[in-house]
Parts: sequence; C-alpha cells; structure tokens
Amino acid sequence: MAGRLRALFHRRVWLWGLIGFVAALQLALVSRSLISGNGPGNVSGNSSGNVSGNVSGNPSAQSADLAYRPAETGLAAAIRQLSLMPADSLLGHIAYTEAPTNTLSPVLPNGSIQLRDPAAERFLAMVKAARANGVKLIPLSGFRSVEEQTYLFFTLKAKQALSAKERAQVSAPPGYSEHHTGYAVDIGDGDRPDTDLETRFDETPAFRWLRANAARFGFELSFPEGNPQGVSYEPWHWRFVGDRHSLETFYKR
Ligand code: DAL
Ligand code: ZN
Repeated sequence: MAGRLRALFHRRVWLWGLIGFVAALQLALVSRSLISGNGPGNVSGNSSGNVSGNVSGNPSAQSADLAYRPAETGLAAAIRQLSLMPADSLLGHIAYTEAPTNTLSPVLPNGSIQLRDPAAERFLAMVKAARANGVKLIPLSGFRSVEEQTYLFFTLKAKQALSAKERAQVSAPPGYSEHHTGYAVDIGDGDRPDTDLETRFDETPAFRWLRANAARFGFELSFPEGNPQGVSYEPWHWRFVGDRHSLETFYKR
C-alpha cells in the first residue's frame, strides 16, 4: 500500500515537473518574440530593421560592419531605453560635460572644427584612408560648446516652430549633446554636398565606406534607425569610442 502511494506520488511529481517545464519553455519563447519586437507586444509596429538593409553595400563590406547595432523597435526598444537611460537624461538625450578646450585639435586647416585629440588623430587617419579609396569624408561639425548648442536648440529650432519634444528628436538640448564631448563628428560626402545632414546621406559612397570601415578607426554610428534613445536616424553623426575615456563617456552608466 505504502509502495503504491509512493509510486503514485512520484508519477505526480514527474507529471507536474513536465507541465512546469513546458510552461516555462512557452514563456521563454513568448518573451523572446516580444524582446525581438516581432511579437504581439510590438507597440510601434515599425520594423525598419538594421540600417544596412537600407543601403546597397556589398556583402563583404556588410560583414565587416562592426559599427552597427541591430535596430530594436517597439517593446524591446522601450525596455532597453528604460534600462539604459541614466537618471541625468532629458527627452532621450544623455547629459555630457564639455571637453576642456586644451584637449581639442583641429580637423580642418582653418581650425573651425575640432575634436578631442585621440578622436582628431583617428579621424584624420580615416579621412586619408577613405581618400585612398576615392571617397571624400568632410567634417561638418565637431566639438560644440553648451552655449552653441543653446543657440541651436532654442533659437534655430524655435524659428522652425518645433515643440520641445520635436526638437529633441532632431537635436539634443544644451548640456545633452554628444558634440559637447569632443568625440562626435558630423560627416559629409565631398562629392555629394546636397546630402549634408540629410537622411539621404546613407545613399552616398562616403556612408557606405564608413559603414564598412569606421570601426577600424574607433568610430561608430550614434543614432542608427530605431535607436533605443528614440533620437531620429542620423547617418551623418559618428562618435569615437576607440579609447578608454571615450568608451566610458558613452557606455559607462
Ligand atoms: N545630434 C545629436 C542628437 C547630438 O547632438 O547628440
Ligand atoms: Zn551630430
């Protein structure tokens, strides 16, 4: 009698164990589909995907593309944003301190555009390498003071009659721009000035070259499509993460 009871008990334990395992497996599959943005919880329904899907680069260049993170959308992006955004953020932008002026070097002969020394050095090396491949990378903007960003954000954007939220999608509020760090640079294609600071820049040889090669020089795209910060797609805006200080500036939270 006691033996039969024990056997029955063991069968029940196995049965419940099996049910529990199947339930856990289903839960894992459902949450995986939510996290990848493909499940029913994908609130935005926008599946623009990886930037590389938008341009016609060659496959070998794409495999070398270390500067790209896969775009996340919907619930996945929202979860990532919540977990990544530090307390000192504003409208999707993160607070940065201004680079001291004695840490900056020019990347144009007239000195009008400057980057932090290591970023400037690697940027100029990158320009040279691109030129050897027939591609003209032109710096359009580098280090920006909080004062300059104040003008951009409040004066220029007010002229365009944009709300604060709309402004923040296309421009960082003063104190919150990657350009303050001296590590961010806006890049144009010297043969296609019509695409300067335009999304269409991603159709240029300069962008294709950057996508395939920028990581070799320590640069990455800050705001790919579907970026977790919710900032609009900026194919021209690249940041240097090629040394400890720059890496910590953007990734240490
Ligand atoms: N242009 C980007 C949003 C920045 O200034 O950080
Ligand atoms: Zn920029």
